[in-house]
Formats: sequence, C-alpha cells, structure tokens
Amino acid sequence: MSSIDLLDASKTVHSAAPVQLRNVVRQFGQQRVIDGLDLDIAPGEFVALLGASGSGKTTLLRSLAGLDSIDSGQLRVPKARAAVFQEPRLMPWKRAWKNVILGLHTPNAKARAVQALTEVGLAHRLEAYPATLSGGEAQRVALARGLVREPKLLLLDEPFAALDALTRIRMHRLIIELWRKHTPAVLLVTHDVDEAILLADRVIVLANGKIAEQLTIDLPRARDTGQEGFQQIRARLLSLLGVEANEPAVQAAGAVPAVSTGNVRRFAHG
Ligand SMILES: Nc1ncnc2c1ncn2[C@@H]1O[C@H](COP(=O)(O)OP(=O)(O)OP(=O)(O)O)[C@@H](O)[C@H]1O
Ligand SMILES: [Mg+2]
Repeated sequence: MSSIDLLDASKTVHSAAPVQLRNVVRQFGQQRVIDGLDLDIAPGEFVALLGASGSGKTTLLRSLAGLDSIDSGQLRVPKARAAVFQEPRLMPWKRAWKNVILGLHTPNAKARAVQALTEVGLAHRLEAYPATLSGGEAQRVALARGLVREPKLLLLDEPFAALDALTRIRMHRLIIELWRKHTPAVLLVTHDVDEAILLADRVIVLANGKIAEQLTIDLPRARDTGQEGFQQIRARLLSLLGVEANEPAVQAAGAVPAVSTGNVRRFAHG
C-alpha cells in the first residue's frame, strides 16, 4: 500500500451521492476488520446489513457516521447523516426535546424538536427526562434526534434489538413510515433475518471484511412474514448465511439471543 493511498484514505468526501465506499480498510492492530470493502447505497435506498458478531458491522457504521476513521480506501457519505444505536444514548439530565436538538444550532430548535417528537408519537413526552421513558420511547427520542437533522443517510445499528417483540413491530412500522416521508438512504444493522426482509430493499452480508453476499428484496410493501415469497427469500438468505431454514433466524447472523415473537405475525407497513 502506498503512502498516497493512506493520504487519500484519511479523507472523507461529502457528496450528494449518499454512500460510495471503495476498497475501504479499517484495522485495529493486526486485525483487519474491514478489508477492501466496496459498497454503494442509492438515494432513498433501504439496505439491511447482516453479519456474524464481530464481523465489523458497527465498525463500518461508525466510519460512515464520522465517529471513526478508515485506514485506506475511499469513503463518500452525505454530510447530513445521523445514527441511532442499540441503546438510545440520551443525556439523563436533559428533557426529551432538549436531547433531540443537542448540538443542533438553529434558531427554531424547539419547534423542530417538537415536530420530530410528534412524528415519532411522543408529542406528549416533550418534557420528560430519559429515566422516565420506556425503552421504546427512549429509542423513539433517539430516532427523533436523528430525524431532526434531516439526514440523507440514516444509520441504524440494531436499534430494535433491546425492545420487546410488540414494540419492535411498532418500531418497524414507524421506521417505514418515516423513511417513506423523509426518503433518506438507510443502512440498518440487524441480526434478525426476518426484520431485514420486512424492511429493506436490499440485504447485504458482511463477512471477512467485505460484502460477501447480497440479495435484492423485491416483495411488495406492506410486507409481512406470511406473504407469498417471504419464506423463499428467507430460506435463500439463510442459505447464503450458511444456516438451515429451520434453525432460528437470529442465529444466522450472530450471537444475540432469539427474541420470541410467539404467535405474533410480524409485519411492517410501507
Ligand atoms: N476500537 C477498537 N479497538 C480494537 N478493536 C476493535 C475496536 N472496535 C472494534 N474492534 C474489534 O473489531 C471487530 C469488529 O467489531 P464490531 O463491533 O464492528 O463487530 P459487530 O459486527 O458490530 O459485532 P456485533 O454483532 O457483536 O455487534 C471485533 O473483533 C472488535 O473486537
Ligand atoms: Mg455491533
């Protein structure tokens, strides 16, 4: 690798094109977590990212969010981008609306916070402190904090993983509704194959530091796990992940415990 490559690598180019990664490398010591990764995400495209625990999904998201650098390659992302993680990461001493506009310098900040919180169904919780919010409410505040920045790229790192099954279903509907309204490109990290199929236009699988597999999901929306074609896509995706279709889907991509959805039929409006 030449030093010119390294020089280029440290540059993050902001562009109208949502995401363009070329030969991106990120390593920690001797461990190459991202190893020559290429990825394009089109405007308004919803992409789900699967991969085993430790495969580098969060590392990739952090680089895209500008929270971490890369060692070489090219990474092009829109300046307007926002990230939501598994835990809401709210400031406990700030009310919900103040959390939403944290670091946002705009004259009508409170009005925008109110609008964003209203969009996630929390108009009645504007003044609440994070400790008084349920897990799902706190994640919706985190989502509002992302939305208020009007991102061209929304990065979601297992944002539903800690939620119960019913709250997850509601969050799926909300995400699709907000995505349709605001049309950001979305990159959603999930361990849940069904969630990926329910929400995404395309599912990509990260392995050995690269995009190992990808599958376009052309099922009509609104989707649900019982719709025609869903199980075939699921089986195909599980096979790409090296898992038999009758094993629990969540084991396919990693190490989180299975979330029991009981007999609840899972669906997402869109
Ligand atoms: N700051 C860091 N310093 C050293 N190693 C790191 C650092 N961040 C991540 N790693 C290592 O990089 C690898 C990928 O981690 P990462 O968090 O990206 O995985 P992941 O795919 O998000 O996993 P999970 O599904 O468990 O969340 C792991 O082996 C991790 O230990
Ligand atoms: Mg992770």
